[in-house]
Amino acid sequence: MSSLERMPTGIPGLDEMIGGGLPVPSLTLVAGDAGAGKTTFCTQFLCKGADLGEPGLYFLTFGGPLDSLFKFVSTYDFVKRKYLGKEICYIELEDKVERAGRAEDVLDAIQEEIEKFGAKRIVIENLSDLKQVFKGNYRRFLLKLSHLVKAQKAVALVTGDALPRAPYPAEIAHVADGIILLQNEEINLVRRRSIEILKMCGTSHHLGKYAVDISVKGLTVYPGL
Ligand SMILES: Nc1ncnc2c1ncn2[C@@H]1O[C@H](COP(=O)(O)OP(=O)(O)OP(=O)(O)O)[C@@H](O)[C@H]1O
Ligand SMILES: [Mg+2]
Repeated sequence: MSSLERMPTGIPGLDEMIGGGLPVPSLTLVAGDAGAGKTTFCTQFLCKGADLGEPGLYFLTFGGPLDSLFKFVSTYDFVKRKYLGKEICYIELEDKVERAGRAEDVLDAIQEEIEKFGAKRIVIENLSDLKQVFKGNYRRFLLKLSHLVKAQKAVALVTGDALPRAPYPAEIAHVADGIILLQNEEINLVRRRSIEILKMCGTSHHLGKYAVDISVKGLTVYPGL
């Protein structure tokens, strides 16, 4: 039996639930409602990489500007300004998507940035927003994106919002090696944050929901709760 190489997530409590970290290479969907913690999760992942000297790229499809996003995440104590433009680079895809418009051009642009930067950790936020842009080409685009990540031997996190009748976007779930669901549900008039590993290829993982807290340290998972 061979074991997979693992990449630590930077989220206290999570790696021990998934066999030591995310499989290398892989693409994982981090899904959840607004405010469930997706951006925080992805930022911890990139900052952990920066701590370890692994370059990381943060792509944003829509929803900029990036400087206001960075202002929000810099309130976390694990986000260090010195990482910006060095270990971690933020890239807006909106212009590229609107100018190129073709899925292939956007994939080429992503690949070029990954190769230029030597990125081993990749985040693509609001990936599901590209569905309306690429329409009939969207599934092919996702499949090719997954292949691209594997070819680069990288680990990617992509985020998608929960939909009215589905906890995660099905098209991304279809190509993803892992699915992590973050929730902030109201239970008996109290909001409770939780994390659930719905799928993680090549990994024997915990099942069910586990308690999560978000503080200035970012997300902390409590595997026993
Ligand atoms: N510096 C901080 N200290 C403690 N908690 C914080 C801090 N910054 C944000 N939070 C908490 O984290 C929540 C936001 O999490 P985050 O932005 O990661 O969610 P999200 O899933 O990306 O939301 P969206 O779908 O709107 O992009 C806030 O609503 C707040 O409760
Ligand atoms: Mg967010």
